[in-house]
Amino acid sequence: MPGLVIVGAQWGDEGKGKIVDLLADRSDVIVRFQGGNNAGHTIVRDGEKFKFHLIPSGILHSGKVCVIGNGVVLDPRILLEEIDGLKRRGVDVSNLRISANAHLIMPYHVLLDTAGELKLGKLSLGTTRRGIGPCYADKALRLGIRVQDLLDEKILRAKMRTALEPKQQALRELSVRRRKLRKEAGEGAEKETGGGDSFEDPRLDLHTMTEEHVNYGHRLEPHIADTARLCWDALDAGRSVVFEGAQATLLDLDHGTYPFVTSSNPIAGAATVGAGVGPTDIDEVWGVAKAYATRVGAGPFPTELEDEVGKELVERGQEYGTTTGRERRCGWLDLVALRYAVRLNRMTALTITKLDVLSGIDPLRVAVRYRSKEGAIFDTFPYHQSILHSATPEYEELPGFDAEIENCRNEAELPPQARAYLNYIADFVGVPIRLVGVGPDRDQVVWIGEQPTLRAA
Ligand code: GDP
Ligand code: IMO
Ligand code: MG
Repeated sequence: MPGLVIVGAQWGDEGKGKIVDLLADRSDVIVRFQGGNNAGHTIVRDGEKFKFHLIPSGILHSGKVCVIGNGVVLDPRILLEEIDGLKRRGVDVSNLRISANAHLIMPYHVLLDTAGELKLGKLSLGTTRRGIGPCYADKALRLGIRVQDLLDEKILRAKMRTALEPKQQALRELSVRRRKLRKEAGEGAEKETGGGDSFEDPRLDLHTMTEEHVNYGHRLEPHIADTARLCWDALDAGRSVVFEGAQATLLDLDHGTYPFVTSSNPIAGAATVGAGVGPTDIDEVWGVAKAYATRVGAGPFPTELEDEVGKELVERGQEYGTTTGRERRCGWLDLVALRYAVRLNRMTALTITKLDVLSGIDPLRVAVRYRSKEGAIFDTFPYHQSILHSATPEYEELPGFDAEIENCRNEAELPPQARAYLNYIADFVGVPIRLVGVGPDRDQVVWIGEQPTLRAA
């Protein structure tokens, strides 16, 4: 299977990084195709933790080409920090390639993201405040600045000048509003109102920004490439390409729980656009889902648990965000939502992570349908926002298991209740589970059935 997409099947943080790292070993090229440093992908290698925000999760395997595709929005400062951090830890990054067409997250995007959230107040989305939404908005408005622009100071300055003007206006309005709020709230209200007058932020000075970004350009130049062509060459030669999704299906801009979503399309179909390959280059789509559910940020989450079991999942699963450190909301596995994700991405297989976290919880529950406020039953994921916001899940109870499973390495070693839980999921959603996570470390996995034959050159 030369073209394999790894996609998040829930609300993110399913363990995609770990799965990509595992499959990277058997492939040649690993491509991130959307999102930006709102992502946080963790790999634990012999107890040593790596967190990737922009660099593809294949980078720990030397000799593999790691690509940041055109669909990614890239904060050059963060990328360079990530590159430097990896170099310090002895990781070879010479095979990193960056699409010349990827859009840049500029300092004003980050300020606007925060400004937008503050403006929404109680209705805020809980974004990662990394500038993702404003950057994709500029891309659609055709005001974006791309990686290739870093290589031409004149073009860069002109584009920045055009892009900056409307931002300054928006930030100025916010600043006036903040000052008013601060006055009303009295001294010491800096925190609530965000503090500072962002439109006067020295980072937005055109001259400073140009200098800073020309410098980024010099440093990134050796990595900049025509990455779509690089993918074609690999695929045409029969080599394996893993497309690494960030975020997840239910955070998809079109198909997720809008407006509580991210600003890109994390679903498998977007791998073609975000990497520059054709739909028939994709041979397999593997979804990654946790054995339960989590969500970070605001928005509907029908199976959310606000009880002791929810707290136990947070603690046992160490459910704190990789990017922002926020505590993740936890709940039972939602099979209505998972079946939706399976179909939407046309998954060929599932991997279930963090099964170890469920040990000791008995009984286990999985949502099999929703009931609306009016009593209507929904077997499928409702498209209407109001229904989803007020839907109550109906559960099937399954027996839990007590044994710790982190040392299991094959299916037969898993407790029968754990196997029954996995079988129930696979039957319900209609795709096989190929891989199960039983701990954070790279080797803490159980393959179900035959291991895939990706062809590394
Ligand atoms: P991603 O964004 O989908 O790559 O996932 P994150 O890295 O944000 O979050 C997943 C977290 O779960 C990380 O801390 C991983 O180290 C951890 N993890 C991944 N798989 C497993 C597993 O099977 N068991 C346990 N206990 N932790 C896991
Ligand atoms: P990975 O790749 C979990 C969430 C944010 C917020 C919403 C919009 O690690 O799974 P944004 O900053 O994208 O505008 O925020 O999306 N979000 C994620 N949640 N994992 C992620 O990435 C996420 N990326 C964005 O919390 O609710
Ligand atoms: Mg994450």
